[in-house]
Amino acid sequence: MSQTETDIQNMFDTIAPSYDFLNRLLSLRQDVRWRRALAHQIPFRIGGTYVDVATGTGDVLVAAQNQHPEYASWVGVDISDNMLTLAKKKLGETLHPSAAPTFIQASAEKLPFPNETVDCLSISFGLRNVIDKEKALQEFLRVLKPEGTLLILEFFTPTGVLSRFFEFYFHHILPRIGGLFSDAKAYQYLPTSVMSFYSHAALCGLLHTHHLPVITQKRFLFGGCRLLVSKKMAPSTSPLVVT
Ligand SMILES: C[S@@+](CC[C@H](N)C(=O)[O-])C[C@H]1O[C@@H](n2cnc3c(N)ncnc32)[C@H](O)[C@@H]1O
Repeated sequence: MSQTETDIQNMFDTIAPSYDFLNRLLSLRQDVRWRRALAHQIPFRIGGTYVDVATGTGDVLVAAQNQHPEYASWVGVDISDNMLTLAKKKLGETLHPSAAPTFIQASAEKLPFPNETVDCLSISFGLRNVIDKEKALQEFLRVLKPEGTLLILEFFTPTGVLSRFFEFYFHHILPRIGGLFSDAKAYQYLPTSVMSFYSHAALCGLLHTHHLPVITQKRFLFGGCRLLVSKKMAPSTSPLVVT
C-alpha cells in the first residue's frame, strides 16, 4: 500500500525523541560534518531570508546560523509537530533571541511563502520523504528569488567497489540498531526509501528541467550521500548540469 503524507508525519512524530541520538550514532557523527558542508555553500546575503524545509529537529538551521549570522530571517518548515517542538527547544537554547527562527508546520508541497522572497532554501534528508517531489521542486522554484540558492543533502544508492559494504550496513546493520532505540519500521523504511529515490543523475536532470540546475556538488560516503547546490535560473540562461 502506498504511503500518504500523514503516514510519513506519524512516522517522524514517533521517532522524534531519539532522532538526534540515532543520527549521531548511525553516522558516527558524520551527519554533523555533512550539514556543516551544506552551510558552507550558503551564499553571503546581508539581511537575507533563509528557509530550511523538512527541518526536523533544526540541525541545519544551527549549522547555517553559525556560519551565516548576516541573514535576518530564518524559517524552519516541517510536517511533524514533534520534530518542530524539539527544533524550537534546540534553537531557543543555542542562539541569540534576535536570530530566533520561526517554525511553521507545513508541507514542502505547499510552502507558506510569497513568490520570489527566499534567498536560500535547504532540504536535508527530506526530499526523499516528500510524496510529490516534483510539486516540492515547483514550490522551491516559486519561492526562491532569481539566482536564489537551493541546497539538497540526501542519501543515494552508491556505486563502485565499496557500495556493497555500504548497502550491507544500510540494509542489515542500521535497521537493527535503529530498532533497538526507536521504531524498527522507520529504520527499515530508510534503506527502502533510498532505493526507490532518484539516482543522483536523475535528480540532477529533474532539477535542470525545473530551472534549478546543479552548479556544484559534493560526495560523501563514496557517493552514498551527496550535497547538490542548485541556482534558480531564468529558462534561457540555465547552464548544463554538472554531474
Ligand atoms: C530524515 S528527517 C531530516 C531532518 C533534518 N532536515 C535533518 O537534516 O536531520 C526528514 C524530515 O522531513 C519531514 N518531512 C517529510 N515529508 C515532508 C513534507 N512533505 N514537507 C515537510 N517536511 C516533511 C519529516 O517530518 C522529518 O522531520
